[in-house]
Amino acid sequence: SASGPLTNKKILVTAGPTHEPLDPVRYIANRSSGKQGYAIAAALRNLGADVTLVTGPTSIALPAGINTVRVETAREMMAASEAALPVDCAIMCAAVADYRPSIETDHKIKKERGGLTNIPVAENPDILKTVSQLQTNRPRLVIGFAAETDDVLCYAEAKRKRKGCDWIVANDVSPGADCPMGGERNEIILITDKGDENWPQMPKDEVARRLAVRIGEALAGPSLV
Ligand code: PMT
Repeated sequence: SASGPLTNKKILVTAGPTHEPLDPVRYIANRSSGKQGYAIAAALRNLGADVTLVTGPTSIALPAGINTVRVETAREMMAASEAALPVDCAIMCAAVADYRPSIETDHKIKKERGGLTNIPVAENPDILKTVSQLQTNRPRLVIGFAAETDDVLCYAEAKRKRKGCDWIVANDVSPGADCPMGGERNEIILITDKGDENWPQMPKDEVARRLAVRIGEALAGPSLV
């Protein structure tokens, strides 16, 4: 594998959506393709990192040189992420479902048997928050994403504080041709302890490459926490 500024660094990346089953044939999900998270995992590998990619269901081929763990639900993503610890850095790019149906059945829900007019839900574990607030084994650098449609910077900054991560990557996921969720390009605001940086829109591979360089610099310097 490549050697570079991240050689001997272990990094956890989460990517893709989660699928939250309702019955054997149905699930609740979102439009995340996994592209941004996979690109980040590849960029970190290219700088020499030992990368574990925990991914929800995607149609992307498994990347070479990366320890990839496929999961379906938020609870499985949580367990696989915890199993990957300890790491030097964790980057949570996955679009994890906040809620799951609390009535998963092992038979198909039938319209003629009463069907379903509302779906009771239970809250899923918050992987980013859990990892950010670990008392032992907390990664030195924890990076979250924030997908917002309004007041992107304001909500993203609040999310960084609430979850306890070091950096947050804010994305505007308003519907439209430029929406990063599912698309090829991304325009981010990188929020760190030193302030906010607006990056121009660029291909997801380029966002990933630049983030990987920044992570390399941060892990080379003195501890942030
Ligand atoms: O997959 P792509 O099509 O390439 O699109 C990329 C993306 C738009 C999905 C990605 O760039 C992005 O913004 N990912 C975060 C999506 C999200 O669900 O954001 P959020 O604001 O709901 O969550 C905030 C953070 O908490 C995220 O780091 C998320 O991974 C994490 N989280 C959320 C809920 C939960 N139960 N556990 C978590 O770890």
